[in-house]
Amino acid sequence: MFHKDMQYRPMGRSGLKLSAISLGGWTTYGASVKAEDTVKAIITHAYEQGVNFFDISDIYEKGEAERAMGRVFADLPRHELVISTKCYWPMSDDVNDKGLSRKHIIESIEKSLKRIGTEYVDIYFCHRPDAETPVEETALAMDQLVRQGKVLYWGTSEFDGDTIRAAHQSAREWLAHPPRVEQPQLNLLSRRRFHTDVQPTAEQTGMGLVTWSPLASGLLSGKYDDELPEGTRLWRSENLRNAYLTDDAKDRVKKFKTVADELGVTRAQLAIAWCLAQRGVSSVITGATRLEQLKANLDALKVRITEEVFRKLDEIFPPSLGQ
Ligand SMILES: NC(=O)c1ccc[n+]([C@@H]2O[C@H](COP(=O)([O-])OP(=O)(O)OC[C@H]3O[C@@H](n4cnc5c(N)ncnc54)[C@H](OP(=O)(O)O)[C@@H]3O)[C@@H](O)[C@H]2O)c1
Repeated sequence: MFHKDMQYRPMGRSGLKLSAISLGGWTTYGASVKAEDTVKAIITHAYEQGVNFFDISDIYEKGEAERAMGRVFADLPRHELVISTKCYWPMSDDVNDKGLSRKHIIESIEKSLKRIGTEYVDIYFCHRPDAETPVEETALAMDQLVRQGKVLYWGTSEFDGDTIRAAHQSAREWLAHPPRVEQPQLNLLSRRRFHTDVQPTAEQTGMGLVTWSPLASGLLSGKYDDELPEGTRLWRSENLRNAYLTDDAKDRVKKFKTVADELGVTRAQLAIAWCLAQRGVSSVITGATRLEQLKANLDALKVRITEEVFRKLDEIFPPSLGQ
């Protein structure tokens, strides 16, 4: 896979190269976007524009996102794709059908591979830390999957630095494969933990960073400035609406418009470009319910942010903001 308009970045201190912009399936494919031709059009266009990295999870619509995206991958050259999926969240009420135990990890990968229709995934993520399972058990189960070739790299999502360092320590003791990539939330409205914990931990451990929700579920695009457009994500989900659509966030997003206008780009493009510019970021995982969104978001790669613009953005969205 190579496209002249895409950037490819190493996943931390591993040999794997990821497209700087990637595409994920949360709440969309197999969920709000059920039409197979739309899923196919969006993923195929991403691939044709040089996107090689596609992110899923078993929990996204309880396996339906893996199935929907997997059907499209079947028509693309498997070796050019970097496919990730995840486990952790309960898939049923069975006490062992959740978390990061050896049992759940080893059983979950089999189900995910079947749903996606692939013999291996490139990256397997622990979707959240599991306080009830020793991190050594998780690290050794992941190492086993790497040795079996079912998983090429393993990673973590929303892990704190101490837990990540403990996973690396276990891997060193057992000569096992350590986690190579962390998947944290990062957007202008939620940056505190990224600067204080995620970036320093990645630098120390050599892990790559693939960041999620660059638009804060669409809010940073400005489409919620004065209305709640029908059919959009925050219209559909009351939970996300309550979490994201605060007066404070809306005020900041309105001020953000002036900065984007001065640059002649959309707020969505500037929000994604800002994530791309953060130290240590290997790939920004975007989401798109429509082809036009993906096309517009890919142009974020062309946006250049000067020191002056960084300063203006820090004034509107201070580094201490959010989680
Ligand atoms: N590890 C984790 O715990 C975790 C958590 C969340 C996400 N993720 C990953 O990160 C991926 C991306 O996250 P996300 O979907 O939340 O990203 P996002 O960029 O914050 O939100 C994407 C959504 O915003 C809207 N949108 C996209 N482009 C737009 C544009 N140009 N103008 C206006 N609206 C636009 C679309 O929703 P509507 O059109 O429906 O409004 C789209 O589905 C997920 O698919 C998943 O793979 C991981």
